[in-house]
Amino acid sequence: MSAQFPSYRGTMKYRCLSCSSTYGIDSLLYTCPECKSVLMLEDTNFSSLRARSGREWRELFDARAASKRTALRGIFRFYELMAPVVEEQDIVYLGEGNTPVVEASPALQAKVGARFAFKNDGQNPSASFKDRGMACAFSYLRALVRLQGWDDVLTVCASTGDTSAAAALYASYVGAPVKSVVLLPHGKVTPQQLAQPLGSGATVLELPGVFDDCMKVVEFLADHYRVALLNSKNSWRILGQESYPFEVAQWYDWNMENMCIFVPVGNAGNITAMMNGFLKLHYLGIIETLPRLFGVQSHHADPVYRYYAAPEATREYAPVKVQPSVAQAAMIGNPVSFPRVQHLVDRYKAIGGERSFQVIQVTEQAIMDAMLEANRHGHIACTQGGECLAGLQGAKALGLVDESEFSVLDSTAHALKFMDFQNKYFTNSLDAAFGVTPKKELQNAPELLLTEAESATLGESGFVLESCRRIAERLQLSEK
Ligand code: F0G
Repeated sequence: MSAQFPSYRGTMKYRCLSCSSTYGIDSLLYTCPECKSVLMLEDTNFSSLRARSGREWRELFDARAASKRTALRGIFRFYELMAPVVEEQDIVYLGEGNTPVVEASPALQAKVGARFAFKNDGQNPSASFKDRGMACAFSYLRALVRLQGWDDVLTVCASTGDTSAAAALYASYVGAPVKSVVLLPHGKVTPQQLAQPLGSGATVLELPGVFDDCMKVVEFLADHYRVALLNSKNSWRILGQESYPFEVAQWYDWNMENMCIFVPVGNAGNITAMMNGFLKLHYLGIIETLPRLFGVQSHHADPVYRYYAAPEATREYAPVKVQPSVAQAAMIGNPVSFPRVQHLVDRYKAIGGERSFQVIQVTEQAIMDAMLEANRHGHIACTQGGECLAGLQGAKALGLVDESEFSVLDSTAHALKFMDFQNKYFTNSLDAAFGVTPKKELQNAPELLLTEAESATLGESGFVLESCRRIAERLQLSEK
């Protein structure tokens, strides 16, 4: 069955969150030309979508979920709520979105003392949630290239490793005239993350320092040179990431009562998309209540936590100098989307109440332990997914979540991308700066049963017999 491609087209504009100026979308803008603040995209016809009832929207999106039309298989299932200016021919679909929600194993739920599930955004094509935003940004870019006849487009991004993997993947699929350049903090992305853009054929450039340093460089580049910036400063990325809250709501039959969402916060693009997405669903009557949103930050990179932990009257935003974090993909001291968060939190709380938005701080120890614990129970959480679970544990300890509530934890990337941290935990070789002491019961190591030299003396049947003897001894097996 293939659903019809939507006929609705919106009128999209960039809006400055500070001075409210609006700008057309026929060029790529990242900051307000007037006051330099960050922008968000909005459909100035959005209120016309209210002509359809919440129920009609729910039915439409549910019907579309079965479509075999690839343009509507991924994030554009929610076309009208996302970027309803992109034509079907421009939509890039690499299998992103529609990621599984896996209820935490009963033993893990019992251990944590809370009901929860992981939404495995590591099961996206480049193994992180970034593909959602890239699918939208590249679809729009393809439309621009086609309409403006551009013959040379250089996409750039700074990254802690996942944005770069996603950007390089989508750019290599789209091909000419799009070329991808990624800028990475040297030694601060995992080997798997580094291998991804290399394999996609991107130009991989590195600088000493941390993500925040690279971000300053690409911001300057985007201001002074002809490049397309693919960090979440690019508002098309945020739109694509709104597919996550849409999918969560749809999975739970559009009922967000007693629901909590946990999301790791780095550059704060994802939490922006969460709030904006749920607010859109609420505005259109597609959901009746907003879920409670919990941002989670490590104590080694926690500017957003610090801001919201301060009493309202004395709150003042200040970037922090990051310390090494196992949640390395979120190790950001000056989140670009912080002004977006500030703007949306007020709207979110005005509808959802004071308790609808919170930021939890967790320790590096809690993050590592939580990731390993989750994965010992059949999950595939990355360190940032572990951060979410540590956040749920922290929220529970603070009495912020009760038994009637159910939590969805964003495991933002695949566990395999972050195996270095697991290995270092297992071998107790994490740098002291992380402040993590491995727990014996969570460590694991391979055991070599025979040395090469022993094996060489055994011959073929001797090899099998001696191996089995040692296994039987090691596992204390009894004979049949
Ligand atoms: N989890 C993962 C796996 C990430 O890669 C990131 C961010 C985050 C969480 C934090 O999300 O920035 O939207 O608040 N990674 C970016 C990158 C910064 O360059 O890959 P955020």
